[in-house]
Amino acid sequence: MPTSTVDMSKLYDTVLILDFGSQFSHLITRRVREVGVYCELFPCTQRISDLPFSPKGVILSGSPYSVYDADAPHVDPAVFALDVPVLGICYGLQELAWVNGCQVIPCKHREYGHAKLDIIKHESHPFMDRLLNTLEGEMQVWMSHGDQLAEPLQGYHVIGRTSTAPYAAVANGVRPIFGIQFHPEVTHTPQGKILLQNFVVDICQCEPNWTMETFIEKEIERIRTVVGPTAQVIGAVSGGVDSTVAAKLMSEAIGDRFHAILVDNGVMRLNECENVKAILGEHLGINLKVVDAADLFLGKLKGVLDPERKRKIIGNTFIEVFESEAAVIDKQSMMSGRGKIEFLLQGTLYPDVIESISFKGPSATIKTHHNVGGLLEDMKLRLIEPLRELFKDEVRSLGKVLGIDEELVWRHPFPGPGLAIRILGEVTKSQVDIVRHADHIFIEEIKKAKLYREISQAFTVLLPIKSVGVMGDKRTYEQVIVLRSVETTDFMTADWYPMPYDVIQRISSRIINEVPGINRVVYDVSTKPPSTIEWE
Ligand code: XMP
Repeated sequence: MPTSTVDMSKLYDTVLILDFGSQFSHLITRRVREVGVYCELFPCTQRISDLPFSPKGVILSGSPYSVYDADAPHVDPAVFALDVPVLGICYGLQELAWVNGCQVIPCKHREYGHAKLDIIKHESHPFMDRLLNTLEGEMQVWMSHGDQLAEPLQGYHVIGRTSTAPYAAVANGVRPIFGIQFHPEVTHTPQGKILLQNFVVDICQCEPNWTMETFIEKEIERIRTVVGPTAQVIGAVSGGVDSTVAAKLMSEAIGDRFHAILVDNGVMRLNECENVKAILGEHLGINLKVVDAADLFLGKLKGVLDPERKRKIIGNTFIEVFESEAAVIDKQSMMSGRGKIEFLLQGTLYPDVIESISFKGPSATIKTHHNVGGLLEDMKLRLIEPLRELFKDEVRSLGKVLGIDEELVWRHPFPGPGLAIRILGEVTKSQVDIVRHADHIFIEEIKKAKLYREISQAFTVLLPIKSVGVMGDKRTYEQVIVLRSVETTDFMTADWYPMPYDVIQRISSRIINEVPGINRVVYDVSTKPPSTIEWE
């Protein structure tokens, strides 16, 4: 798939982080960026000769493996020939030992938790103290390892030890190579950020200029170079943070040569189209077209019960509508002497990029996620992904700098197939109205209770079963609404949110009183896995 981006690492001093499969590798990347230094995560199997940039430093991550495991991953030795500073974290330290022929042994007990690091200074070799510079005495660190160094690492000096790990932090006596047994990237190592900053700024000499302000400036230049003076770009927007931020950036770069399309598929949230029109079109000044295709979508969904078929119908119909809109724009452009649409904007984020290049391989697809990949082949468009180097929190900061409202920046994610996968059974206009109304009440109440930001995602699900109730003196026989709210950092795993009873009580009584057709509300207490966040 062609991706039209210029290499970000040519614009910023870049640190290479090699991922050996630790659950904390993403965190190292985020922490380094938090101190203002751009870095990229690559699988540990990356051959240095194929690296698309010259790093100013390298960090080796932790790993679930032991260096002696038959299938243990090992670094390309060319890393050490780059002649840039190297920091090995946990397995990364053991890898330094393994490369140097030093013995690594299993700990008596796997060490997991807090430890106190005694910092050892070397006044005669002050460059070795730079990693722990400004840190003095005892430092609280977080350990999570099964192996450790059994003997001194030749050519290295101990710069920190704990009661159980005599070689918990080491520095090479000649070259800027360091190894640490603990994890500076986790919040349980409160001064870990200082250590990482010492490494990337002082030792690697990276300029700490990675901020969303400088990103905008450079990204706009980059988009203009890639798109050129006449070509046009099209992109779908949904009202979510990623597509809005990507669209605003595009609009800043090329004005109304960017065409944002909002397809009303009939399964969007209450007043969504009007809100998107007001925020993106009027407030943010994005060249936006709203296409009302609700009847088309609902017509195709008639009688369909199977979740995967619903997803496929919505995905394919979306492509159909989007392509015909693009054809209209192309025709109008030809008549007014403008260039053709050559690019498709997508709001891909860095975690998706990392996931697709992970050395463990991408995780299995559990559900068919809505994607517009089909558009590229059919329309011969090139992909443009201005957010592909950013984490979600960076996208939010970028959104704020671009003047996007806090409320939108912090919006919960919403799936492409919309409310259709929250209506179990057949999707009809009246079922959509019910779930839409209930969802609106749910979100309104959690916002009132100031819980919205604490919850990662909240929504309602309409079950196609009826149960008996009593309202006034009358028997009712009506449908059930499920309240689903979860806490998660990556949406791969999730816990159900422990909603306070008084809030549940208000939501339940409002939904039963205000939403016709509902006489029962239940709360979903399932974690992911084994359940998923959505019900279909
Ligand atoms: P599940 O249900 O797989 O959802 O645990 C994980 C996250 O993905 C969202 N989701 C989707 N997002 N298109 C999207 O853009 C989809 O088809 C889709 N399906 C699920 C879901 O809302 C949750 O945030």
